Amino acid sequence: MAELLDGKAIAAALRARVAARVGDFVARTGRRPGLDVVLAGDDAASQVYVRNKARACEEAGMRGAVHRLPATVTQQELLARVGELGARDDVDGVLVQLPLPKHIDESAVLEAVDPGRDVDGFHPYNAGALLAGRPTLVPCTPLGCMRMLEHAKVSLDGARAVVIGRSNIVGKPMALLLLAQNATVTVAHSRTRDLAARCAEADVLVAAVGRAGLVRGDWVKPGAVVIDVGINRTAEGKLTGDVNFDEAREKASWITPVPGGVGPMTIACLLENTLRAAWRRAGLPMGELGL
Ligand code: GUN
Repeated sequence: MAELLDGKAIAAALRARVAARVGDFVARTGRRPGLDVVLAGDDAASQVYVRNKARACEEAGMRGAVHRLPATVTQQELLARVGELGARDDVDGVLVQLPLPKHIDESAVLEAVDPGRDVDGFHPYNAGALLAGRPTLVPCTPLGCMRMLEHAKVSLDGARAVVIGRSNIVGKPMALLLLAQNATVTVAHSRTRDLAARCAEADVLVAAVGRAGLVRGDWVKPGAVVIDVGINRTAEGKLTGDVNFDEAREKASWITPVPGGVGPMTIACLLENTLRAAWRRAGLPMGELGL
C-alpha cells in the first residue's frame, strides 16, 4: 500500500517557510512583496482560484490584489492593464488567469507580462530559460510536483519518468524539470500508442491529461511514485483525478490524493515565485533566499 503524498501538509510547510522569508524581505526593503492577478470574464472556477491566490498572498504577509475586467474587455484594454502593472514599483508578480475570453489572443497577453514578474512562468522568455537549463520563474504546478518528489526523497537520477499530457502549463515544463534532474523522460499524450505499457515502465508517473480515472492499477509499476495533476468533476459533482486512486495505491510506493495533493502545492509555489520575483527585483542576493 502506497504512502500518501499529503499536498496540504507539504504546502503548509512551504507556505510557512515563504512567510518567514517575506518577513525578512519586509525588514530589508521596507515594503511587502505584491502579486496582482488579472481576471477577464466571469468563469466560475477562475473566480474561486483568483480569490484563493490573493488570500494566500495576504496570509503569507504579501500584498495580493485581483483586477476584474468584463468578459467584453478588448485586447487593447487587457494589454494596457498588464502593461500598467508591469510598470508599477510595488508589483512583483503579474498573473493573468486563464482561460481568457475567446476573442482575446492569449499568446499576445502572456507575452505582455514583464518576464521578471511572470510568476506563472508562461512568458516565452521564462519557458525558454527552462528549456535552456537555466530556470528562472517556473510554472507553479510542475514546480509543486517537483517539491513533492523532493519531500518523498525520490531519487530521479537515471529513473524512468512518464508524463501523460503535453500542455505548456504542466506537461512540457514537468518533463523539462524531470530531465534537469537526470530522469529519462517520456512525454505521452492522447495519440500515444500502447499508453498502458509506456506507463507500466515508469518509476515516476505524472498524469496531467484531464481524464477521470484514466490510469488504472495495472498501468502502475510496483513501487512507482504516482503524481496525479488531474482535477475532474464526476457526474455526482465529486472531485477526482486522472488516476484510479484505489487501484493505483495498491501498486505505488507514494501517491498523491485528489483533492489535497498537487492543488495546494500549486498555490504554495505561486507564493514562492512571487517572493522569488520580489527578491530579484529588490536586488537582494538570490543565494540568501534559501527556499
Ligand atoms: N488556469 C488554470 N491553471 C492556471 C494557472 O496555473 N495559471 C493561470 N494563470 N491560469 C490558470
